[in-house]
Parts: sequence; structure tokens; C-alpha cells
Amino acid sequence: MLIKFKNKDQLKASDVTDESVYLQRRQLVKNMGFLGAGAILSSAIAKNAQAGFFDSAPAKKDTVFKTTELKFTTDTKNQSLIKTPENKIITHNNFYEFGAQKNQPAELAQNFNVDPWQLTISGECEKPIMLDYDDLTKMFALEERIYRLRCVETWSMVVPWIGFSLAELLKKVVPNSSAKYVQFETLYDPKQMPGQADRRLGGGISYPYVEGLRLDEAMNPLTLMSVGLYGKTLPPQNGAPIRLVVPWKYGFKSIKSIVSIKLVSKQPKTTWQQLAPNEYGFYANVNPNHDHPRWSQASERRITSGGLFARNRIETLPFNGYGEQVAHLYKGMDLSKYY
Ligand code: MTE
Repeated sequence: MLIKFKNKDQLKASDVTDESVYLQRRQLVKNMGFLGAGAILSSAIAKNAQAGFFDSAPAKKDTVFKTTELKFTTDTKNQSLIKTPENKIITHNNFYEFGAQKNQPAELAQNFNVDPWQLTISGECEKPIMLDYDDLTKMFALEERIYRLRCVETWSMVVPWIGFSLAELLKKVVPNSSAKYVQFETLYDPKQMPGQADRRLGGGISYPYVEGLRLDEAMNPLTLMSVGLYGKTLPPQNGAPIRLVVPWKYGFKSIKSIVSIKLVSKQPKTTWQQLAPNEYGFYANVNPNHDHPRWSQASERRITSGGLFARNRIETLPFNGYGEQVAHLYKGMDLSKYY
């Protein structure tokens, strides 16, 4: 990976545009009349987040996985990946069900109850199943996978996830010949998720949050069901108790707190695609050659241990650097049409 480090004094405003990019994304929903006072954090909360408060405030149900029971699979190309510090991964979040600002989910999801939990896998398959909270961490051999996560807003992280291949789960239910796509849904529970109860806070999204993959994308060995990060169960703000991680796609495909996985015959209508189809496509493969209509996708700001002005602007790679493993899935497709 080509890393373009610049001297600090050479930094231009364009080096830190991701913040403005995400504000632009929020502008989209604001233009639709949402995101008002409800989206403003109290200064006390903001101060806590800055002081690394959440470092010492583990999520409810926080469980440490035994490393002896984990298989370790580092990024296959191992481009000297430097992990994003845990306190950044768990305080800089997109989880609109808990507010559309980056630091709101860490605060507003603290009491999110993940046990009991029910995840159903159903639809076009021979053996539909329902998993409870314990099944999620006990049914499959868990492994640690260090993946890059690239948000469509042009920031990125390197996250040590813990989980298992979605393919393992799908094989259990035996998809039938009508299964062409997989549709995922997040929990709908406005009592627990304030952004679902208050459309302003929740960014104007119609919940539940829905995502989808083509069946072959879902079966790709890279596609992960994550139940933890940094050796512990997922904090609520990162999608507890179980989320999807699709490392070659923009982060919005990696749907959190999943209660339903359904094998379907038609392409699902996904949340962001429905909200702004010209901006967010169904495929959403990371593509530096296909700009978002309102900003460039050529580079990204890697979130590291440094502050906002850390020298960390890097080139964005096609398929987020996972082309060798996934480019064949899109052979013959016009990627600027199927964005
Ligand atoms: N899943 C749900 N249910 N709701 C969301 O708002 N945001 C998505 C994705 N999954 C989102 C979601 C976006 S835009 C990104 S970039 C990633 O989660 C962020 O994951 P992280 O907060 O763990 O970094």
C-alpha cells in the first residue's frame, strides 16, 4: 500500500476533509428536515469521550475470549497493518439507531440489552434456524481477523475482529436453488434504540436498517459475522451481539445488531440505497475510481493513535485492497454502473 506521508506543515485542508464529508452526508438528511436539537451531545458526554472515558467503561456483557480458543488470521496481504487503537474504534461510530453523530452511539447504547437475543436465519433454505445469545459465540469456531474498514465518508480503521465466516452459518441452513441474495435486518426496538423513536436523532432513516449481499458475496470466505473486537465481545456501539463485516465494501454494508438473515430470490432494498440511490448503491464496493457525487473516493484518512492532524492520509485501494480475493465476483460488470 502506498502511504503518502506529508510533513505536518504541508498539511492542507483537503487532508482532513473526511469530517466535512461526513457533515455533507448529514446535510443530506438535514435537507430532508431531520437532525435537529436531538442530535446535540451534552458537553459532559463529549468531554468524557475526549478523555478516553470509554477505555475504562467496558460494555455490559463484556466477555474476554480465551486466546487459546481463537484461530488467528491476519490480513492476507499483511501490508504492515497498524491496528487502530481500541478507544478510537469504540468511540468513533456510525450507528444511527443511537444518533447520527460519531460519539453518540458510545454514550446512548451503553444500556442496550443484548441478552436474550434471537437471530433467525430463514427464507429460501431447507433448514431455517434460530440462534440465541449463547449460540452466537459457542456454535462456531471463532477466529481473529484483522481487517481494514473503509467508510464511504472517507475515514478508515484497522480492526481486529473476532467472529466466524458467514458461509459457515449459511451452510447450516442449506440454501435452496431460489436463494440468490441474503437480506439482513437490525433489531427494531425504539424503546432501546432512541434513534428509531426520534427521527431527528436517527438521521431520518426508516427503520429497521436493512442490508443485502448477493449469495456468492455472502459465501466468500472474507465475509465475517463478528461477535467481538480486541479480544472481547462487541461493545453495543459496534453492533453487539452480532454484526456483519464485509471488508471490501464501504462500511455501511456492515450492518450491526442483526436479528434476521433471510435468503431471498430478489435483490433486497437496502437502507442507504433507498435513502439516496444516486449516492449509495447496492454493491458499494470500495472504488477509488468512482467518486461519490459529492466527494472524491481516491484517498482516506486512516484513524490511528494520532489526532485529527496526524499524518495519515493514504490512497484508497480498489476493493479496499482485497481485490485478489473478490474481484472475480464482479467479472464483466461495469463497476461505475453497479456502484
Ligand atoms: N448498522 C446499523 N444498524 N446502523 C448504522 O447506522 N452504520 C454503518 C455500519 N453499520 C450502521 C450500521 C456505517 S455507515 C458504518 S461506516 C459502520 O457500521 C461503522 O461501524 P463502526 O461504528 O463499528 O466503525
